[in-house]
Amino acid sequence: MEREICSIVSNDRVAKDIYKLVINSKSIIKEASAGQFLHIKPSLNYDPLLRRPISICKADSVKGHIMLLYRVCGKGTRLFGGLGQGDCLDIIGPLGKGFPILKDKKAAVIGGGIGIAPLLELCQNLNSPDIYMGFRDEVYFVDEFIKHSGAFFLYTEDGSRGSKGYPIEALARNISSYEVVYACGPKMMLSKVKELCEANSVECYLSMEERMGCGVGACLVCACESSEENYYKKVCVDGPVFNSREVKFDDRYER
Ligand SMILES: Cc1cc2nc3c(=O)[nH]c(=O)nc-3n(C[C@H](O)[C@H](O)[C@H](O)COP(=O)(O)OP(=O)(O)OC[C@H]3O[C@@H](n4cnc5c(N)ncnc54)[C@H](O)[C@@H]3O)c2cc1C
Ligand code: FES
Repeated sequence: MEREICSIVSNDRVAKDIYKLVINSKSIIKEASAGQFLHIKPSLNYDPLLRRPISICKADSVKGHIMLLYRVCGKGTRLFGGLGQGDCLDIIGPLGKGFPILKDKKAAVIGGGIGIAPLLELCQNLNSPDIYMGFRDEVYFVDEFIKHSGAFFLYTEDGSRGSKGYPIEALARNISSYEVVYACGPKMMLSKVKELCEANSVECYLSMEERMGCGVGACLVCACESSEENYYKKVCVDGPVFNSREVKFDDRYER
């Protein structure tokens, strides 16, 4: 883990409230792998105080560029949105445990909304996985994924692009073709992916999201329920990527 002041190469809006940020990195990039995250101070002063976790979307070690994809939803990400080329960010990373890269297994990757962010670096490192993606309405960034996919399944909730509905529907039809499934997205989707994979004895890795404080295992803000009775895992150091059998979702997310 390194602390680095990174200059911004570009920060472009790619859809409503969605931005692609590219930063220069000399040290963090050396250790970065798919599924890990960066803990970023939204400003160079103390307001807001806490860093915000953002996943590594793509790491280009030749150029020394790390690409991030983020959704503006509150004070911190709104500050990110106001930054431009040449501005600097105070970053700690890479943090957490990423995705195991199981190149020899037939893989499916499923993402929902901004949850697609950590999946691009993963897809690049796998052998043309089948990709399942879902968005509420506006679709973004799919061309980046299609380059690295076998079959590609696109869903929108309103049916404006791809099929109407949710990508889990197509994954459920094809699940017997896969040896491993990787997922990131809303908890409802992750809970269904876990249930589907476990019912079909398919290995499954989920990238979990919880609010974070320290990002390094000291504050317990990010605790999530583990499948072991009365035991919690820290998303920042035990995850964010977990084998589906390690985590439990509360009743709200289970049918
Ligand atoms: C490991 C990890 C990786 C992440 N990767 C990305 C990414 O690649 N791109 C991206 O856009 N976002 C990502 N997030 C979520 C991102 O960290 C939050 O959206 C961000 O911290 C919100 O900060 P804010 O100051 O803008 O919003 P705040 O003002 O702090 O909150 C605004 C709203 O967002 C909710 N919120 C805040 N943090 C989270 C969270 N962690 N999970 C769910 N809801 C939250 C709040 O409850 C509130 O409703 C990731 C989160 C984690 C834990
Ligand atoms: S964010 Fe502090 S322990 Fe995970």
